[in-house]
Amino acid sequence: MRDRRVVRVLLVSLWLAACEGPQSALRPGGRTAEDIFGLSLVLFIGAGLIFAGVMALALYAVLARPERFPGARAWVVGGGVVFPVVALTALQVHEFAVARRLSAAGGPETLRVEVTGFMWWWEVRYPGGIRTANQIVIPAGRPVEFVVATADVIHSFWIPGLGGKIDMIPGHENRLTILADTLGVYRGQCAEYCGAQHALMAFDVAVEAPERFDAWLAAQGRPAAEPADAFLAAGRDAFLMLGCGACHAVRGTPAAGTIGPDLTHVGSRPTLAAGTLPNSVGTLAGWIAGAQHLKPENRMPSFNIVDGETLRALAGWLESLK
Ligand code: CUA
Repeated sequence: MRDRRVVRVLLVSLWLAACEGPQSALRPGGRTAEDIFGLSLVLFIGAGLIFAGVMALALYAVLARPERFPGARAWVVGGGVVFPVVALTALQVHEFAVARRLSAAGGPETLRVEVTGFMWWWEVRYPGGIRTANQIVIPAGRPVEFVVATADVIHSFWIPGLGGKIDMIPGHENRLTILADTLGVYRGQCAEYCGAQHALMAFDVAVEAPERFDAWLAAQGRPAAEPADAFLAAGRDAFLMLGCGACHAVRGTPAAGTIGPDLTHVGSRPTLAAGTLPNSVGTLAGWIAGAQHLKPENRMPSFNIVDGETLRALAGWLESLK
């Protein structure tokens, strides 16, 4: 008996533990997410209560003798017509109110951030021509309007802890306004199947205090740092010689490609290849040499012809771009 209870408690805690973490819609990190969470609770609890009531009535109808179930017609009209109309209308009115509040979340101080989905990464653009990838930083307490689009197929932009989900449709721009309050790092994920590496299409969203956000944005606006020594300079030269600049831009160098992520400050990003790997000099080297092995079918070829010394310098230089 006791064993069974322990198993049950364990199962329930495992189930709830699955809802924790940086990608949970059940732990809202701001007003937008709280509104959506509140609406989900109303739906869950309301549906649960109605389900329990209907099941109880069904059981009673099955088990009770017919003469103990008077007014069958009233039950059909009341339970089958009046109750659903009243319940669904009330729900709709509540939902309209929430939707209206969500769409009115913006204001004159709204920050505009453009995000474009690619197979399989995210380009993020801030005012002033600042481009980054797979990493979003936003200020706490200030509305942010995400203007989302796609460069190829349909993707879906979703940060469960901060707001609703919005599709990225070819030839179209969608908008989503989010207000985040709680500082921290949240995880976003593509929520529409978009090909082989759909699962490896994630990003980090850091909610920072306004002054830290301003400092971050100012740093992102600067061109790449000059190589500090001969080793890093050799890395930069290898980058330019191997033709990496055909796809990637590094501001402050001749590399100005736009097919792949802007790498001007790649060393400051928490992950590589849209959440595929933690970012370090080792994973950078691994990615350059084996991109097709780590994330098959992505647009980056594996540069497995590069000798070890050059690869180390190349990865070292990229890692130094903070
Ligand atoms: Cu992009 Cu799924």
